[in-house]
Amino acid sequence: MVVEKNSMVGKKGEEEEYVIVKRKTEVCYYVMKLAEYGELYSFIEHTDRFNEDMTRYILDQLVDGMRYLHSHGIVHRDIKPENLLINKKGRIIIADFSFATRMNEVESDELFQKRYDPFIERRTDVGSEIFNAPEIWDNEINLHELEEQMIKAQGEDKIFDYSEIDGKLRKLSVFPKYNGEKADVFSIGASLFMIQMKSPPFRKAVQTDPYFKRLCSVKKQNYWKIFKSLPHSDEFKDLMEKTLMKYPSQRYSLDQIRGSKFFDVSDDAAQSHHSQVYSPESFIEEIKKRFDIVESVKQNDLSNKTNHE
Ligand SMILES: Nc1ncnc2c1ncn2[C@@H]1O[C@H](COP(=O)(O)OP(=O)(O)O)[C@@H](O)[C@H]1O
Ligand SMILES: [Mg+2]
Repeated sequence: MVVEKNSMVGKKGEEEEYVIVKRKTEVCYYVMKLAEYGELYSFIEHTDRFNEDMTRYILDQLVDGMRYLHSHGIVHRDIKPENLLINKKGRIIIADFSFATRMNEVESDELFQKRYDPFIERRTDVGSEIFNAPEIWDNEINLHELEEQMIKAQGEDKIFDYSEIDGKLRKLSVFPKYNGEKADVFSIGASLFMIQMKSPPFRKAVQTDPYFKRLCSVKKQNYWKIFKSLPHSDEFKDLMEKTLMKYPSQRYSLDQIRGSKFFDVSDDAAQSHHSQVYSPESFIEEIKKRFDIVESVKQNDLSNKTNHE
C-alpha cells in the first residue's frame, strides 16, 4: 500500500491536508483527512514510556470511539497502536477498517434505537497476533462461554446438547461465532498495556505462552513480577487483568472500563494514585515534543539506509 500526503480545499473553503492511500492492485483509491502526528506506535517505538495520565487520556478517547462504532453495529477487529493515529488537535483517530465487520441488527428497543448482536462469524485470519483475543484461536473458549450461558438459562441439571447451539448440530471444533465487541476490548487492553509499558503484555494469548499463562493464573503476582521495574498503579494492573480476561463473559465491557477505578480522578482517588486530568493542550504539547524525536529518528534511519545503498 502506498501512502501520499496532499493538500486540498476542505468543506470550510480552507486548505487542509489529506492522505491518499493507493493500493497497487487494480481498484481502490481513497482520500482521508490527514492525522498529522501519525501512528501512536511510532511514539511507543521511538520515545519514552507514556505516563499513566497520558495513557488515561488516550484510553478515554479510544473508549468513546469504540463505543460509537459498536453502537453503530461495527466491530473493528484490528485495534493496535499502529492503527491509532493522532491529529494536530490531539485527537486519537481509529484507523484501518480493513478487518472491520458489521454485526447483525436485532429488534429495536422501545426508544427505536438500533441494537446489534455482538456474536459474529469467527475468522482466525483477522487482527494481529499480540493484540488478538484468545477466543479468536481457541474455540474451546467460545464453547465454554455458550455452555455457561445455557446453564444459566436452563438450570445446572440440564444436560447440555450441542444441537441446541444455533439450532443446528455443530461439531465442537467448528462452532462459528464469538463476541466481537468483547474481542475488541481485549485488543484495547493489549494496546493500552503497550502504550504505558512500552512492552507487549505477552507474545500471543494462548495457554502455551508463558506470559499469558501467568496472567490467567490465580496468582497474578507472578505475572506482574515480570514487569516490576516499570512503574504502574494498582488501578492500571486491575484494569489490565479485567480487559485481558481469557473468558469474554468475565472480561470488562467498554462501559465497565469507563467505570473502572483507573478512570476515577476524584480528589480521593487522585490522592491514592496521584492522577491528574490531562488537558488536550498538555497532550498536544507533549506529542509535539515527541514528534520531533520520531521525525529525526526516521530521518536518520532513511539517511543510514541511503548511505548503505
Ligand atoms: N488518515 C491518515 N493520516 C495519516 N496517516 C495515515 C492515515 N491513514 C493511514 N495512515 C498511515 O498509513 C498506515 C497504513 O494504513 P492502514 O489503513 O492501517 O492500512 P494497512 O492495512 O496497510 O495497515 C497507517 O498505519 C498510518 O501510518
Ligand atoms: Mg494498519
